[in-house]
Amino acid sequence: MAKAAKKSQPRIVKTVKALREVLADWRKRKADIALVPTMGALHAGHVSLVALAKKSAKKVVVSIFVNPTQFGPNEDFSRYPRTIEADLDKLADAGADLVFMPDAKEIYPDGFATMLKPAGPAAVGLDDKFRPGHFEGVATVVAKLFTSVMPDIAIFGDKDYQQLQVIRTMARDLHLPVKVVGAPIIREKDGLALSSRNVYLSPPERAAAPVLHQVLKESAKAIAGGGDPEAVLSRGRAKIMSAGFKLDYLEARDAATLAKPDPQRKAKLRLLVAAKIGKTRLIDNIAV
Ligand code: PAF
Repeated sequence: MAKAAKKSQPRIVKTVKALREVLADWRKRKADIALVPTMGALHAGHVSLVALAKKSAKKVVVSIFVNPTQFGPNEDFSRYPRTIEADLDKLADAGADLVFMPDAKEIYPDGFATMLKPAGPAAVGLDDKFRPGHFEGVATVVAKLFTSVMPDIAIFGDKDYQQLQVIRTMARDLHLPVKVVGAPIIREKDGLALSSRNVYLSPPERAAAPVLHQVLKESAKAIAGGGDPEAVLSRGRAKIMSAGFKLDYLEARDAATLAKPDPQRKAKLRLLVAAKIGKTRLIDNIAV
């Protein structure tokens, strides 16, 4: 049998200096650039971001960096899945041009002293309340990626919806000339949103996990149909907890600011949920 042709591996760079040399060459050739920031452990959701990046720009840079500053002291930084060989194969198949894979010292050298402190959608009592310091770490590392790559467009999953709004706000506030785009959540057949953390789930936890999406879907439909949001969400909260989750929040928020919706204004709503099953914390969201 003929061997399938092996896709060419994307170029890998580990330093900002090497990254900028490649980018300068591309820019000389008038190529526009899309960036897909990741922490590796890539799945079909990430691959869909790279596919969108390829449609949006001539050259695609993917970063892989498990960013220590966005993990709290009791979170999963040390056990976060690291699957670099498999990631590089997926990126080769997806057609990424360059992978930026810095080590921690490249991003946070000795003497590093400048962290961003985002507010607005980073201070609304959702993940910011349960993961103190998380969005400082995210905003700081993404700002560093933006100023290192200076992409024309950057693509993030809608799954981390609060993160997406924090990054949009940060890029706007710092006048970073990048278009921040959210891409649709990719789900398993039973509705569970793809996440690098799904590998932590035991079989019974995995079986219970789709309840998050079921509740989001049912609640969005009921609210869109005129149901009282608080009553709808309170039923949803009970259903999630009776499936064995410890609920952090299930909330309806203004889709742009993530503030509590003002009943006088007809703003678009987003439902967001975060809950823990066993040791694994899952998040999900849906538009109303
Ligand atoms: O969503 C992620 O994978 C991370 O939070 C990001 C945006 C790559 C920053 O480390």
